[in-house]
Amino acid sequence: MSMLNRLPQFTRLSAFRHKNVSCFCTKTDGSPIPTNPLKDIYSANKQSDNGVIYDKKPFRMELKAGKNYSWCLCGRSKNQPFCDGTHKDIYLKIKHRPIRFTVTETKEYWLCNCKQTSNRPFCDGTHKRADIQEKKV
Ligand code: FES
Repeated sequence: MSMLNRLPQFTRLSAFRHKNVSCFCTKTDGSPIPTNPLKDIYSANKQSDNGVIYDKKPFRMELKAGKNYSWCLCGRSKNQPFCDGTHKDIYLKIKHRPIRFTVTETKEYWLCNCKQTSNRPFCDGTHKRADIQEKKV
């Protein structure tokens, strides 16, 4: 059985919907952590609480310079790490809104999947905390 077949189906679908996605990463590449140029533009960036942990490791994927993205903060999207509108489901009563962001350089980035980063939407290593790694997701 291949490693791919051992992943839950939603993980496989989410990971391979995007080009250049690597979802089996456990380490960052040592490059400086980028910041979101749209951070001060959208009020959603001021949300103080974080969503539920989707995964305990980040996604690495190529992002295009100047393109706008919506990163899922609630942790319930089935199109991780991006928003699929699940937070709008009135029956789920989700208060989180997605984080709009862009990048200034076309290259690969580590996007947070634990939803606990202090540098949304980029991984800042928070997922390595013991309380996050010990949590069942
Ligand atoms: S995945 Fe690294 S901080 Fe969330």
